[in-house]
Amino acid sequence: MGLTRHIQRFPWGTSDEAQVLIVHFGSKSTPMIAQLLRQIGLCSRVIDAADVPAVTASGYRPKLVILSGGDDSVSNENAPTMADRDLASFMQHGVVLGICYGAQLLAVKLGGKVATAAIPEFGEVQVQVTAPFGTYAGGTVVMNHNDEIVTLPAGWQVFASTAHCQHALVGTGRIYAVMFHPEVDHTEHGEALLAHVAFTLAGCKPDYTYDLAAYVEQCVTWLQQVIPVGDVELGLSGGVDSAVAFALARRAYGTRLHATFVDTGFMREEELEEVRGYFGLEGISYIEAADVFLEHIAALPYTGPEPAGEATYYDQVRRAVGQCFIDTFVQHARQQGRAPVALVQGTNYADIIESLTNLKAHHNVGGLPARLDVIVVEPLAGLFKFEIRQLAAYLDLPAEVVYRQPSPGPGLAIRMWGPVTPPKTNALRRATRILEELIRQHYPDPRQRPSQYYLALAPLASCGLMGDDRVYGYAWVIRGVTTRDRESYVTVGAFEFSHAFLQDAARRLTNEVTMEDCTRFVRVFVEVTGKPPSTTEPH
Ligand code: XMP
Repeated sequence: MGLTRHIQRFPWGTSDEAQVLIVHFGSKSTPMIAQLLRQIGLCSRVIDAADVPAVTASGYRPKLVILSGGDDSVSNENAPTMADRDLASFMQHGVVLGICYGAQLLAVKLGGKVATAAIPEFGEVQVQVTAPFGTYAGGTVVMNHNDEIVTLPAGWQVFASTAHCQHALVGTGRIYAVMFHPEVDHTEHGEALLAHVAFTLAGCKPDYTYDLAAYVEQCVTWLQQVIPVGDVELGLSGGVDSAVAFALARRAYGTRLHATFVDTGFMREEELEEVRGYFGLEGISYIEAADVFLEHIAALPYTGPEPAGEATYYDQVRRAVGQCFIDTFVQHARQQGRAPVALVQGTNYADIIESLTNLKAHHNVGGLPARLDVIVVEPLAGLFKFEIRQLAAYLDLPAEVVYRQPSPGPGLAIRMWGPVTPPKTNALRRATRILEELIRQHYPDPRQRPSQYYLALAPLASCGLMGDDRVYGYAWVIRGVTTRDRESYVTVGAFEFSHAFLQDAARRLTNEVTMEDCTRFVRVFVEVTGKPPSTTEPH
C-alpha cells in the first residue's frame, strides 16, 4: 500500500478569502509580514509568486496585496516576476504595496527604472519622512539592497528618504513601494506604516483576534474530528512548540496519545531528567539512545577544516542525526506493538511559510512521516512562536517551558568545530549545563534572558597558565542573541551579558570542565556578531 502522508492543519489566522494577500518572492522575512499584520489585527494569506496566476484566476479579490522582498535583482533575466494582467487585476480591485524586491518590481513594471545603487545599504539606517504618510514617523529602518529605484514611474510621489536612498518610500493612488523592511523587528514604527496602507489606503477592517480560550476549545474539537479513533504518536522535545502540541493532543486523545522523548546524546547533561520533571511519565516514553547517535556520527568522514569541508561535514552531521532520530522513533513505536494512524507535530506558521521556498530544509522531523504511514496533524500550523508561547502560558505549562529557547534538531552536534567526537560532546554537555546554571542564577526572570544562548567548543589550541604550568588547551565561545519582541530569528542582535555573568562564566568554564583525554579549557570568548552576517548557530 502506498503512503498516505496526508497533512491536516488546524486553520487559524489565514483564509483563502483574506483581505490581505502576501506574495512571496523568496525573502526570509515574509513570515514577519504576516506576523506584523496580525499585530495590527489582520489575517492574511501567503502564496508563492509562481501561484499568482492560479489565485487571480480563481476570482479572489484581496483589498491589499503585498509583494515581499527577495534575493534576486529585477534586471536578471530569470528573476521572479508577475504577469502584467495579474498586476492590473490586483490594482483594479485593491491596493498593492511592494517591499524591497517587490518595490523594485512594481517600479519597473510601471515604467520606472531600477539600477545598482551607488551606495548599497545593508543593516540599520535612518529614514526621514518628507511628505505625510498617515502617522508613520520614520526613524531607524532595516535596509538590505544592492539595487534601487533610480527613476520613478510617472506620477509617483516621494514620502520618505534615507541619506543614500532618495526613493525609500514612494507611490501614488493604489500603488506603493518601500525599499526598507517595515516588517522586521529592528525597523521602528513598521506597524504604523502598514496600518496606514491597510486601513486608510486599502480600506481593510480588523479581522484577527487571538482568543486563547477559543483556540483551545476549537483546536481540541478539531483534533478529535480529524482523528476520531486509533493510536496517535508525538515526538516531544521539551521545546515550546512540541510541548503545546502535546498539551492540546493530550486533551483531545487522552490515552490514545503516545509521546516519545529521544535523548540523542547531543543534549545538555540531565536534559532527559529535566523534561521528565516537567511532563511526568504518563503517556510518555523516554528513550536513551546516546550511544547509537554518537557511534553513528563518529563514523562520518571528516572533510574539514576549510570552510567548504566543514560545510560538507556538518551537512552530513545534520542529516545523520535526523535519520537516527527517525529510526529510533519508528523502532520504538513498533516495539511497543502500536500501529499508529496519526503523528502530531508542532510545526508553526513560520515553518510553513519558510518551507514554500525550502529555507529550513534542515528540520529533523521532515523524514518521519515517510517512514510511518500516518496522517500528519499540525494543531499549531496557523500560529507564530510568540502566539505559541502565549498559549503555553494559558495552558499552565511551567515557565521554563513557556520561555524555553529554541534548540536546533541536531542539538550540541552543530556547536563545535572539527570532527564531532564523544570526548568533545561530553565536555560540551557538561559546559552547557554550567552555562544554564549561570543563566538561571544571573537572569532569574526568563524574560530578561537572551532569546537564545549557547556555548560552542572551539578546538583552537592556545596557551594558558594553570598552577605554575603553561598548559595548552582549547576555548569556549559564548553566544547570546536577541530577537526583539517577535522572535523570528530572521535577524538577531548580540545580547549584552553583564560583566558579573561573564566573569563567573570564564571562571567556571575553565576550572570545572576537562576533556576525557585531560585537555583543559584555557580561554573563553564572547561572540558579538549579529545575523546577518552570522547565522545563530555555528553550522
Ligand atoms: P540559524 O542558525 O539559521 O537558526 O540562524 C535560526 C534558528 O533556527 C534554529 N535551528 C533549527 N531548528 N532544526 C530546528 O528545529 C534545526 O536543524 C535547526 N537549525 C537551526 C536555531 O536554533 C535558531 O533558533
